Amino acid sequence: TDGETPPAANHQQDRLAEESNEPGDYSAGIPEFRNEPDTNPSLEANQRWAEEVVARATPEWLAQQSLPEKVAAEEVDALVEKARAAGEEWAARPAAERAAILYRAADIMAARRGHLASVAAAEVGKAVAQSDPEISEAIDFLRYYAHSALALEEVEHAEFTPDKLVMITPPWNFPLAIPTGGTAAALAAGAAVIHKPSNPTPHCSMALLECLWDAGVPREVLHGIYPDERDAGKKLISHQGVDRIILTGASETAALFRSWKPELNINAETSGKDALVITPSADRDLAVADLVYSAFGHAGQKCSAASLGILVGSVYSSERFRRQLVDAAKSLVVDWPQNLSATVGPLTELPSDKLKRALTTLEPGEEWLVEPKQLDDTGRLWSPGIKAGVKPGSFFHLTEVFGPVLGLMEAKDLETAIEYQNQTEFGLTGGIHSLETEEVAQWLENVEVGNAYVNRGITGAIVQRQPFGGWKASSVGLGSKAGGPNYVMLFGTWNDAVDPT
Ligand code: SER
Repeated sequence: TDGETPPAANHQQDRLAEESNEPGDYSAGIPEFRNEPDTNPSLEANQRWAEEVVARATPEWLAQQSLPEKVAAEEVDALVEKARAAGEEWAARPAAERAAILYRAADIMAARRGHLASVAAAEVGKAVAQSDPEISEAIDFLRYYAHSALALEEVEHAEFTPDKLVMITPPWNFPLAIPTGGTAAALAAGAAVIHKPSNPTPHCSMALLECLWDAGVPREVLHGIYPDERDAGKKLISHQGVDRIILTGASETAALFRSWKPELNINAETSGKDALVITPSADRDLAVADLVYSAFGHAGQKCSAASLGILVGSVYSSERFRRQLVDAAKSLVVDWPQNLSATVGPLTELPSDKLKRALTTLEPGEEWLVEPKQLDDTGRLWSPGIKAGVKPGSFFHLTEVFGPVLGLMEAKDLETAIEYQNQTEFGLTGGIHSLETEEVAQWLENVEVGNAYVNRGITGAIVQRQPFGGWKASSVGLGSKAGGPNYVMLFGTWNDAVDPT
């Protein structure tokens, strides 16, 4: 052999054995980028691992895990000043040193996969089947951006000045991958980071920041903090010493931040209202599986989730297709993460007003093919719902609801389907299932989304292979995508003569 571990061997990985691995020493250089494999659930050892992951994920156990420091409004100036100074020192290190630290953090994260999955299960009820690929993505971000740091150094001294201090405000729906991605990118560029966890997921954020600190990122360079009240948060976001805000969250949050500081330097990945188009030429079995997983994985709490199935012509009227879809949705096990068979878990928070409306009411013309049901007293566990007859321009067509409801729309032809798909103000993900190359070409030419998927589900972008980012109202100030070659280049200012994209 050539001495490399064949991919097949990676997929045999025994997670119990892996948890004891030591981080590597990358002082002599980092290896070629390779995506981290997910856990193979068919291995018996990994099933035991998953059982341990969920067994320890109790509220009592969670209460023993770290929380961010609280920062009051009057402490903000000192924090910013200290972090900026540390950022200068961090940027002055060779990129190879920062890259080596990020690679070590990836190794530590891989060794703590079970711990991270337990935190996500305990904190927001995330199923192991969902957190496992998310942890792979977080590891990928660390390694991928380490390579970006090296690439950036080639141009750095002449044309690029990294930000000194970046604030990361991640979401709660991917509480491991997205917070790691923004933080790793800023650190790779040479900036110091103030990381403010999303309100429901402070333990997840801290668990991943610990991987970075333990790998050698100085505490002065990377801060995990919670503003103790809204004033402190507002002061931080609008502080002149914070060079950039990275936000993944609702469009309303981006607008709120801007209202606090009009000249805000913000890069935000915001809402989506994503659709999968299915034409009569599609492989319908594949289309059903992709639609159901994209709609209901993590209970639909993904900005990338398929909220709409736009069914062209005979697909919409096909009784057989409807039956397949309904059967597939009803076969999903809906439960808390302690049930490892569950594919649809609880909502992170009680349904918002928009989601409640989507779960409990029909708009004119709509009918339930599967009516969602509240399954327990917590109010957070809902079985998936499918509504047919969603009308163009209606509430459900245009509003992001962020939960386990799928709406079906009828389109007379592909052109009309694309028109419906583009009619929302957002443009994050979208897909088509079609086996006609001309249809696919027509769709790709006209669809207005950042991530356009063909004959694949529309969630679960893979670092490097499918850089992730939106269009239209799904994106604020982003010219480049997460997990892609230009992302780290966002974190600084460029000499006018150079166009990084
Ligand atoms: N990256 C996630 C996905 O592709 C969304 O943030 O589903």
